[in-house]
Amino acid sequence: MPQAILSLKNINKSFGPIDVLHDINLEVRAGEVLCLLGDNGAGKSTVIRLLSGVHKPTSGVMAMDGKPVSFANPREAADHGIATVHQFGGTFPLMSVGRSFFVGREPTKWVGPFKVYDRKLANDTAVKAVQSFGITRIDDGDRLVGGLSGGERQALAIARAVHFGARVLILDEPTAALGVKQASHVLRIVNEAKRRGLAVIFITHQVMHAMAVGDHFAVLIRGAIAADFRKGEKSREEITDLMAGGEQMAELEAEIESYMAAGEGHPEPAKHVH
Ligand SMILES: Nc1ncnc2c1ncn2[C@@H]1O[C@H](COP(=O)(O)OP(=O)(O)OP(=O)(O)O)[C@@H](O)[C@H]1O
Ligand SMILES: [Mg+2]
Repeated sequence: MPQAILSLKNINKSFGPIDVLHDINLEVRAGEVLCLLGDNGAGKSTVIRLLSGVHKPTSGVMAMDGKPVSFANPREAADHGIATVHQFGGTFPLMSVGRSFFVGREPTKWVGPFKVYDRKLANDTAVKAVQSFGITRIDDGDRLVGGLSGGERQALAIARAVHFGARVLILDEPTAALGVKQASHVLRIVNEAKRRGLAVIFITHQVMHAMAVGDHFAVLIRGAIAADFRKGEKSREEITDLMAGGEQMAELEAEIESYMAAGEGHPEPAKHVH
């Protein structure tokens, strides 16, 4: 197996007296999707905040390409090629597609003695990058980000990270607010990022989304890794139970599904009697 791009060794994180993460060991490799699973409050976002330079570990070692690293701030993590995309894409609703793609790195051109923002180059580059991920509906770089759908915003943020050389792409619940069709677009983009050789860390509460893209799975329960397995090693039911903190959720889910199928989940609306 190739060397991990990013690894966590015996990582602990406390906030004052509160111990949030306990002895976390994880590895992510190029061309692989690691799904980080776990119930609310399990510690997933805290792991991501360590990797993206928001917090520092209390103890333990983070390494890139086998060499220990420490990030003083998110900028340093980004400089190491770690890109984090949050639920709503983290882009700017009042900016154009082209502007938001280049924010902080705007291309310029000379007009006589003046250096100005090269709108055409920015727009063309952004549209091309997004379209290369299969989102062909974005064909005008002047469109405002606020007018894009949730899935399109995710696509824009991911295309941007890849364009600027990210090696590790972290997605914290990218499909949580999306409908079925848009979520499947985002999952396709995750697969494309993986095909291009990025290491992807994907956080989700939806077991089907995890199973659709994951090569490797780690389940956090109360801040510790409770299970660590590869694609095909566990069933959907087992993963569902682990994600709920080890409770028997799969059974309950199947029960609810069968009620719904039998029509018992939808009681007749009460009739008004006049
Ligand atoms: N800055 C902080 N100070 C104190 N406690 C914190 C801090 N950040 C997170 N925690 C605690 O750490 C635990 C894990 O939180 P975290 O946000 O990592 O969970 P999560 O797995 O991302 O949950 P969710 O699925 O709801 O997003 C929670 O109990 C939370 O209250
Ligand atoms: Mg979270």
